[in-house]
Amino acid sequence: MQNIKLNLKNSKIEQAEIMNYSKKVLEIHEELHEKVKEEKEPLGWLNLPSEYDKKEVEKIKKIAKKIQSDSEILLVIGIGGSYLGARAVIEALTHTFYNYLPIDQRKTPQILYVGNNLNPNYINDIIDLIGNKNLSINVISKSGTTTEPAIAFRIFRELLENKYGLKEAKKRIYVTTDQKKGALKQIADEEKYTTFVIPENIGGRYSVLTPVGLLPIATAGIDIDKILEGARFAQEKYSDKNLKYNDCYKYAVARNILYKNEKNIEILVSYEPKLHYLIEWWKQLFAESEGKENKGIYPTGAEFTTDLHSLGQYIQQGRKNLFETVINIKEPITNIYINQDEDNLDELNYLVGKGLDYINKEAMEATISAHSDGNVPNIIIEMDKLDEYTLGHLLYFFELSCSVSGKLLGVNPFNQPGVEDYKNKMFELLEKPGYINKEKTEENIVKSKRKSKAKIKI
Ligand code: PA5
Repeated sequence: MQNIKLNLKNSKIEQAEIMNYSKKVLEIHEELHEKVKEEKEPLGWLNLPSEYDKKEVEKIKKIAKKIQSDSEILLVIGIGGSYLGARAVIEALTHTFYNYLPIDQRKTPQILYVGNNLNPNYINDIIDLIGNKNLSINVISKSGTTTEPAIAFRIFRELLENKYGLKEAKKRIYVTTDQKKGALKQIADEEKYTTFVIPENIGGRYSVLTPVGLLPIATAGIDIDKILEGARFAQEKYSDKNLKYNDCYKYAVARNILYKNEKNIEILVSYEPKLHYLIEWWKQLFAESEGKENKGIYPTGAEFTTDLHSLGQYIQQGRKNLFETVINIKEPITNIYINQDEDNLDELNYLVGKGLDYINKEAMEATISAHSDGNVPNIIIEMDKLDEYTLGHLLYFFELSCSVSGKLLGVNPFNQPGVEDYKNKMFELLEKPGYINKEKTEENIVKSKRKSKAKIKI
């Protein structure tokens, strides 16, 4: 059975320091496992791997097959927790250049993402990429009102309707949203689109194992049963309330110890380019869960060895407010061996017969050693393999550790009130009905006063 292990050898944290948190962690464990019984608590993700809606998963598999049979492209419309999980899993488990492969090699549709920005070039370039290819849309929004995906949906729904006509377009739109509320739910009901439900008690960034992630993931040909199986294994494994045996809780504690020691930036590091979006998903999970009340570790990411030739300099010799969490995938998916070259002009013959994975891992060992010698603690997450089962395990590991870590920090890991501030200001500037722009209103009053004064003069 593939597994995941936490290694704190290079973290400069003693086991005794970790164990000082036993009581606090036990309280959090009990709080989570008690509150999960109350439907209104945002804890639906905690037992999801063992309690997911089996019928919904069967429906996901059926629709994924339909999309595979009638579409060359699946357009995933969503932002934040409504797209990062799907993208993280798809990019981790498919060919590195999945979307560029010819269809006979790829076998399943290209997966393209929109609604995660407001940039016209990006959207126009996606339209170019679609060309006259067959297309389906999966629009994902829990609130059903988020501006970025709402705008993208309006644009691409029109494109789809012009391309196929109203009747066929309806059959190619799949909506993933709340069971009852939101504008998207209303549109879906009116238009009779096929819909998938995001459980009320699961927030966006904890929703990758719901239809939010599972429909795009299944469409890319990935075995979602195995992902859920891995997550189920993790749910069982990390239900151990004893901190001593619970790596997931230990990771949460280790982060908090480092934070108290002025290490307030965490870099999630990977030596596997396929994990680029896993790092993005992790950044969102931890940033929105912990960054509040002027507290929290700033989560960022790095891809080595690429970034050793950029960020590496700062990490080694810059400010010492950093620590790294390194994901080490033990078993490579493929390998390449270095061949003998008679001339040896590149002086690489000392590597003859060595696998590239071995060289990559030696680079990792060297970097861990150099960085921890340079007072940058390193936490290592050892993954046996990069496959569906182990990735399902890792997703659950991060969701649970994030919520425990947030609680240790003393914040609510399930809300994101700060995100509203930019939205409110943007709505004011865009003059969305119901949003008053104080500055503009005052400007208008001054202008109209000036005008009326001028009139009096005349
Ligand atoms: O984690 C979260 O809750 C957020 O990042 C949301 O996923 C994001 O803001 C998108 O929201 P929605 O799904 O309502 O469109």
